[in-house]
Amino acid sequence: MPTPQEMLERFQDSYALGDEAIDHTHREFLELCLAAANAKGPEFVETFQALFDHTNHHFADEEAKMQASAYPAFGEHRANHQRILGDMDRFCQRAAAGRAQMARAWLNDSLPAWFDLHAKTMDSALVVHLRQHG
Ligand SMILES: [Fe+2]
Ligand SMILES: [Fe+2]
Repeated sequence: MPTPQEMLERFQDSYALGDEAIDHTHREFLELCLAAANAKGPEFVETFQALFDHTNHHFADEEAKMQASAYPAFGEHRANHQRILGDMDRFCQRAAAGRAQMARAWLNDSLPAWFDLHAKTMDSALVVHLRQHG
């Protein structure tokens, strides 16, 4: 699985979906993942929290677009967002409580793998729909 750094390097070829706002948000997401992965000590909790806040907005923006365009797969896409937000919230709380190790592992392994698949499937399908109905 590519790291967030590698995903940013190959963003245009592998992750750009052709929707300017969504692509911009996805680059910011990967930059925040990278910042959290590189953060040391107390800075880790701060950057993880920034990633969590950004992800809340990222998902809310996509869901607003789905609702505004009567997207048929809204429920499925939203459920996938909620699952990852729940995990992120839990690991963020653990990190804030001084247990950063599992949060780091999740951030380095599970989250990039989730983004790779989610961007290429659910977000990609949403962008196709928005092009036709947005
Ligand atoms: Fe997204
Ligand atoms: Fe999404």
